[in-house]
Amino acid sequence: MSKVGPIGFVRSLGRILRGKPQVPPSLADNDLLRTLLQRRSVRSFTAQAIPDDIFAAILEAGRLAPSTVNLQTWSFAIFDPESWAAAFGQPLPFRGQRAVIVMGDTHRARQVIQAFPDSPLVEYTVAVMNASLAAMALNIAAEALGVSSVMLSETGRSGLLDAGYLKETLALPEGVVPIMTIIFGYAKGAYPPMPPKLPLDQVCFAGRYREADPAVMADWQAQMIAGYKASHLRSSFDAQLRVYQAKIGQAEADLREIVFGKRGI
Ligand SMILES: Cc1cc2nc3c(=O)[nH]c(=O)nc-3n(C[C@H](O)[C@H](O)[C@H](O)COP(=O)(O)O)c2cc1C
Repeated sequence: MSKVGPIGFVRSLGRILRGKPQVPPSLADNDLLRTLLQRRSVRSFTAQAIPDDIFAAILEAGRLAPSTVNLQTWSFAIFDPESWAAAFGQPLPFRGQRAVIVMGDTHRARQVIQAFPDSPLVEYTVAVMNASLAAMALNIAAEALGVSSVMLSETGRSGLLDAGYLKETLALPEGVVPIMTIIFGYAKGAYPPMPPKLPLDQVCFAGRYREADPAVMADWQAQMIAGYKASHLRSSFDAQLRVYQAKIGQAEADLREIVFGKRGI
């Protein structure tokens, strides 16, 4: 990853701070749109507890999420600070007040429906896709109720990269794969600035696939590096990537076994 000099660093931070959702003013008042556009990953929570009925409503949004053939290929492992500490021997990240480990689950429906028995890759993809949609429903329902959240794949113990550990701890059967942990709480202070998002014209294409503009991608990369440094003074984007990379090999092996079991792929 290339280095960003001091001038580039300041310029990149300025661009991050100026980043705003782009919608016509006539639409900006729509409550759901505003919730979607102003959502942020929040990594600092107050000690205020989340009432049971609020958390139940958040889970209900996940339960009712859309899914392929309505198979509902997900499971939610739910935690409060006490049960999290009992399971993982450490406090909830960022002083969160509740957590949900979202799993792709091809195990449950197999009791009654053999949807894709000979297509493990499709079955896995469908499960992860559906569970991710349910995760987003949890996240947005929370946001709408004034509860903030962050999705995590790396918490040291409870993310995608710890699938093997979670399989043991939560007694997961074959076909149940942890994909992310969502930490919920009431945000401490203002939301962080929007991290650098790629422009719409770089992520959309009409007709044949269009390669992204190298200058736009280089600018985005500089903002990613600067933004990460500004919010993690003692770390860096590269260092964070290396944390992931150090665990990837084991995670890959664990996931293969959880997802495909003895069938292999
Ligand atoms: C599946 C998934 C896994 C993530 N894992 C982590 C994580 O391990 N640690 C973290 O700090 N943020 C994590 N995030 C949050 C992203 O860093 C965040 O969504 C991204 O920087 C964009 O910021 P925004 O959510 O405020 O738009 C994850 C997000 C997703 C969707």
